[in-house]
Amino acid sequence: MRKLPENFLWGGAVAANQIEGAWNAGGKGPSVSDMCTNGTHQISKRVGAEFFPDALYPSREASDFYHHYKEDIALLAEMGFKVFRLSIAWTRIFPTGMEEQPNEEGLAFYDRVFDECKKHGIEPLVTISHYEMPYGLVEKYNGWEGRACVECFERYAKAIFARFAGKVKYWLTFNEINAGTRPIGSVLSLGTIKGYSGPIKEVPDEPQIRYQALHHQMIASAKVVKFAHENYPDFKMGNMILFSTIYPYSPNPDDIIKAQQEEQMMDWYCSDIMVRGAYPYYAERFFEENHICIQKEAGDDEILKEGTVDFYTFSYYMSTCVTDNPDLDKVGGNMVRGYKNPYLKASDWGWQIDPKGLRYALNAIYSRYQIPMMVVENGLGAYDQLEEDGSIHDSYRIDYLRQHIEQMKEAVADGVDLMGYTPWGCIDLVSAGTGEFAKRYGFIHVDKYDDGTGTLERRRKDSFFWYKKVIESNGENL
Ligand code: BG6
Repeated sequence: MRKLPENFLWGGAVAANQIEGAWNAGGKGPSVSDMCTNGTHQISKRVGAEFFPDALYPSREASDFYHHYKEDIALLAEMGFKVFRLSIAWTRIFPTGMEEQPNEEGLAFYDRVFDECKKHGIEPLVTISHYEMPYGLVEKYNGWEGRACVECFERYAKAIFARFAGKVKYWLTFNEINAGTRPIGSVLSLGTIKGYSGPIKEVPDEPQIRYQALHHQMIASAKVVKFAHENYPDFKMGNMILFSTIYPYSPNPDDIIKAQQEEQMMDWYCSDIMVRGAYPYYAERFFEENHICIQKEAGDDEILKEGTVDFYTFSYYMSTCVTDNPDLDKVGGNMVRGYKNPYLKASDWGWQIDPKGLRYALNAIYSRYQIPMMVVENGLGAYDQLEEDGSIHDSYRIDYLRQHIEQMKEAVADGVDLMGYTPWGCIDLVSAGTGEFAKRYGFIHVDKYDDGTGTLERRRKDSFFWYKKVIESNGENL
């Protein structure tokens, strides 16, 4: 039976806006995430140009990776990390997104970060845009609704490719690009919130704008992938999809068809374009029925065809059920909405825990595309208890990860081509969905709390020592 390959890329993942802090240091401009307040599972965080004096802005300090990166990367190395997925904050390089020249201080920061990774033999995997759109572009163009963002993104990508070519080989264009197929994607992903001020869950939904903005992101992604292939032949360019395993609730054919439709527009729509290079056939009817008309420029179809990715990456947290029966109980994650599966338990934030859904996802994706894959986010957002002696006994997190790794190994035994695994939030950071710090994912605890207090001290959780053994044994010792 096939096993995980010897060169399997074990590691972890973070994003600049959720970990770096230092939101206005070194010439950095504000991103959409910097303009988001804190929130909770029950109370939506808010976004807007207006300052909410009763709120905190958790991304602005976050875990202060900006000043702790050396210590943090050394801790990752201690666990044996082979790869570290992180993102570059666009606004450190182009503070409003519209400058002609990149900001040297921002570039120099990432030079230091990548040098530190190299020193420890860790390969960086860089997300070019992870929910960090410059707020300047929101105000000028209503975010990705404006086609002009394509050019701004190209300028940004070209600047970081040129600067980091010798240091970074693996790139992902947009984090969870299919977030734009969901109304909530308008905020962090598309930035189509010009003039809006209020709860992120109440942003008025305009599907026409969302799908047009998403088209612009697709074009921007394809253009930079093509550029990288032509100019940096050793680069490996990937997409990044929020993959939600979707089950029909029952064998009722109505549920089956509904689940298939949901899967098409949620899970496959973006990757069909990014891997196969063209809009999928099922989109036409969806657009017609939802009164969506995408404006394309001459040459767009060619761009999509020429800018296909080398590998497929995705986040996996949960599965949901789809049904035609509105009376059943609903569940959801950040972008995912569906019905409760009676066979599954859920996290404290209501995300259904389904390790076998990951095996299903890996097989579904591989049978569709047959290109190498990587799980670049997975994990359990949970409350941790800091003991008096400084230990954190997070057995629930170990159980979650163990079960998912077991299913990943099953998928590899099934024959899928899996390159690596980077569980989410390997160092505690701010939750993207709720703006909380209490929702922790890390192997490394950060002393920071929801009222903004904390020493920022780093501590090793039980899962830290466990994951070290997992990596040492290439996944044999779980
Ligand atoms: C993914 C995002 O959607 O899920 C991350 O790419 C995010 O940015 C992660 O943090 C977990 O979501 P949350 O809301 O628990 O932070």
